[in-house]
Amino acid sequence: MIPILSPTPDNIRRAAEALRRGSLVAMPTETVYGLAGDALNPKALARIFEVKRRPFFDPLIVHISERSWVEKLCHQIPDGARTLMERFWPGPLTLVLAKRDIVPDLATSGLDTVAVRMPSHPVAQALLQEAGTPLAAPSANPFGRLSPTCAEHVAADFSDGIDCILDGGPCAVGVESTVIGWEDGKPLLLRAGGIALEAIEVVIGKVLEKTSATPVPQSPGNLPWHYAPRTPLELWNPGDSLLRANSGLLWFGTETAPRGFVHTENLSPKENLQEAAANLFSALHRLDHAGLSCIYAQILPDVGLGRAINDRLRKAAAAPHLAHEGDC
Ligand code: TXA
Ligand code: MG
Repeated sequence: MIPILSPTPDNIRRAAEALRRGSLVAMPTETVYGLAGDALNPKALARIFEVKRRPFFDPLIVHISERSWVEKLCHQIPDGARTLMERFWPGPLTLVLAKRDIVPDLATSGLDTVAVRMPSHPVAQALLQEAGTPLAAPSANPFGRLSPTCAEHVAADFSDGIDCILDGGPCAVGVESTVIGWEDGKPLLLRAGGIALEAIEVVIGKVLEKTSATPVPQSPGNLPWHYAPRTPLELWNPGDSLLRANSGLLWFGTETAPRGFVHTENLSPKENLQEAAANLFSALHRLDHAGLSCIYAQILPDVGLGRAINDRLRKAAAAPHLAHEGDC
């Protein structure tokens, strides 16, 4: 059993010591819980890939608590990146920038860029300060599976390999950070996330969206499936008829949910996309543990955080379920 610790100063010191020894700590961030290790220690990085069963081609995000780390980790920083740091850090925005040699190749899967983010969660900030080193942290779930938005989700997914889980309560944002890179000097959306694309474009103008023609490195954001519950998930529109027995519904909005589902979760009865994002992974975890044959999920409006939510739902629906009975 991995201990779940409240984030007292003593426990943050204990966690920081573990990180300096090269061990891993599950830490809360405002987006999802992260599986943190010393970003400058290749052994700790290797442990992250091992514990998460993550393929080595999939680069990690490096978390920092002070802007001075940006210059130490990165160079050739575009003006637009500086503007975005100014406006959105600390917060759910990751910037992919040219890396310096200090960043181990394991963190970047051999790419010459590194993803950097400054989380706003006070426990993540305190842990980064106390550890005194940047922390690499993917979401603290087994590769490809639902992201954790509370300490209990992490504890349910792992039984060893992590020194402790710092309990910072439920994550306020609920979907991972927005990832922005630059190509030929132009900003590119690599992953929709906790900061709406519209808000970013207000600050730096048009951001290109990744298309199949855009050569980008292999990563979870780019894999055809990800964020998947163990129960098969299918996208569903009201009016679609092909329903299986013993199914659940992920619903959104003010209208009464259709009947006939064993378990229904409404992401936001007020149709608020921020509330829906904050509830997304908890609702999917609950549906996944309800003994259902199938989860039907409604696609949300494709604006603001709806874009990040729909991306997660589309990738979850694309997951293979060869081992599961009663696929929908
Ligand atoms: O909100 C978040 O970002 C959370 C919390 C824990 O901070 N972390 C997270 O990490 O979502 P992870 O490992 O699940 O996702 C990392 C994303 C991947 O989609 C990957 O494509 C992208 O970051 N990434 C990392 N390094 C990259 C690079 N050099 N070039 C392009 N994409 C990169
Ligand atoms: Mg992840």
